[in-house]
Amino acid sequence: MGQTIAIISALHEEQAGLLALMPGQRPERLGGREFWRGQLQGHEVIAVLSGIGKVAAATTTAVLMERFQPQQVIFTGVAGGIASGVAVGDIVVGSSYLQHDMDASPLFPRHELPGYGRSRLPADPRLLALMQQAAEEAIAWLPRQLGPATRTAFSLHSPRVHSGKIVTGDRFVATAAESRALRSELGAALAVDMESAAVAQVCHDYGVPFCAVRTISDRADDQAHVDFPAFLQQVARHYSGRMLETALNLL
Ligand code: ADE
Repeated sequence: MGQTIAIISALHEEQAGLLALMPGQRPERLGGREFWRGQLQGHEVIAVLSGIGKVAAATTTAVLMERFQPQQVIFTGVAGGIASGVAVGDIVVGSSYLQHDMDASPLFPRHELPGYGRSRLPADPRLLALMQQAAEEAIAWLPRQLGPATRTAFSLHSPRVHSGKIVTGDRFVATAAESRALRSELGAALAVDMESAAVAQVCHDYGVPFCAVRTISDRADDQAHVDFPAFLQQVARHYSGRMLETALNLL
């Protein structure tokens, strides 16, 4: 048997593609979450929905660590594109994670995690390289998987894989002004979500390798509240299953 890999998602639609690959499983309920245990590509997989936001993500990850002791943690889900050139349908593999709403100034510099001496936590380099490879493979396969109507509706003609900083906060970013502010404040941020940096912090505390992979569902602009649910309902599930199957095969 291979390793125990935990796969966290925030929402059901982000997890559906993975659970479809692990049929006949029964969840174990713990801390208000359902942990699905199954096998994929010769590995033991624990799939769990965290729910939305940093607290939900952190408590889920802590329970996961204590109960299942995974050797690797992967987060798959959607995010808002922040950097120019990061379009709906692209995949962002997070190389580092920052909480954009962390602010204990003037006691600590803005964004610094008190007690950690830094604001950004890195992805595990090996898992990052693996997820980049899996994302490239999934994105080449995807356009054939989605019908032409969906591809046109979401302009998914030549989606790309990016690797870089993901920023996290307890806020759905839904105006162009806020997105602009994040961009100017956090220069190189590629995407914004509501969980990745919280999971990264707990994984750091437990010394467990972590990487988050996010498909861009919206541009975190004035259209985000429309684009996000549409993408979630019609496209998101196609990404995660294929990417994880490829990643675990390579692991
Ligand atoms: N996840 C997906 N889209 C998002 C957005 N615009 N803001 C925060 N988290 C997101």
